[in-house]
Amino acid sequence: MSDIKKIKDEYLDKLSGDINIENLNQIKTELFGKNGSISNSFKKLGSMPSDDRKKFASDLNSIKEELQEKINLKFQEIEIKEINSKLENEKVDVTLPERDTQQGKIHPVSQVIDEISSIFSEIGFSVEEGPDVENENYNFTALNTPDNHPARDMHDTFYLDNKKELLLRTHTSPVQVRTMLKSKPPFKIIAPGRTYRSDSDQTHSPMFHQVEGLHIDNDINMGHLKGCLNYFIKEFFEVDKIRMRFRPSHFPFTEPSAEVDIGYEMKDGKIVIGEGDRWLEILGCGMVHPNVLKNVNINPDKYQGYAFGIGIDRLAMLKYGINDLRAFFETDLRWLNHFGFDPLDVPSNYRGLSR
Ligand code: DAH
Repeated sequence: MSDIKKIKDEYLDKLSGDINIENLNQIKTELFGKNGSISNSFKKLGSMPSDDRKKFASDLNSIKEELQEKINLKFQEIEIKEINSKLENEKVDVTLPERDTQQGKIHPVSQVIDEISSIFSEIGFSVEEGPDVENENYNFTALNTPDNHPARDMHDTFYLDNKKELLLRTHTSPVQVRTMLKSKPPFKIIAPGRTYRSDSDQTHSPMFHQVEGLHIDNDINMGHLKGCLNYFIKEFFEVDKIRMRFRPSHFPFTEPSAEVDIGYEMKDGKIVIGEGDRWLEILGCGMVHPNVLKNVNINPDKYQGYAFGIGIDRLAMLKYGINDLRAFFETDLRWLNHFGFDPLDVPSNYRGLSR
């Protein structure tokens, strides 16, 4: 048997066995590499007598083609085998039980802030934010509450420095000042956020939440304030009718000032908003004091408007029947699982924030 026939038989034999991709590459090199058996056989052609050369060349070419074809087929075969085994191993077993996952819950305060923002955005309010660490000017002085004003003591302020220049904001009202300094009237904004006072019991927590409202334009009066709050309370508590009363009050930054109560009654130990002859205080409000407008370079003879401040935690407690404020901030997962909301739990009055 000629040398090249031997090579052919030897390699056809190897190629028909159970080989992997490395073996196959090795075979390819052994045959067709720089010093491979087939490559070397071609090198012999030059030194052959011309009579033998023709036949040898034709035999060699057909052996080369046969082996190359076998190698290509083997490559395909191995590739298909690999794909099949991958498919086999990565098969999804649809009969397996569902994995235990923990779905997070939305905190009632976050939920209520979303609801409030959505309701006010329906009537043209946009949402503003301010920092938790505030300066005493924006928190007090610019809001017509100068040094030594008794209202400062009532706020139980957390000061952050000895000079009492930096503090944790005691209310969201400084966002009024920041907003009005930033651009020109008209303004129609709400500002929800965290607020801080040194106070703690069943209905007070050192950190709590408020939403500030501010509407300034040429001809805004208390009627607009009443209409706006009436609309908000009905939407928030999802009732058609409410009873609401304005009680004269005092805030340094509004004149006149009022506190607003809503009517409720107790039914089966639960508070029902809108009916009955009991009153519940829910917010403070008034017409923005001319001094506040002057402090932010707005002419009070040209512009006027109303402002209000609502306790968010209290609204959440009332709407969702939660009776201890402190639980809001105790980060107890069992509590959150009970009172929290699923991400897709859209309240019936929620219309999205983007409109
Ligand atoms: N900032 C007040 C507080 O924390 C609440 C408040 C009352 C805000 C009247 C207002 C307002 O904007 O007009 O007690």
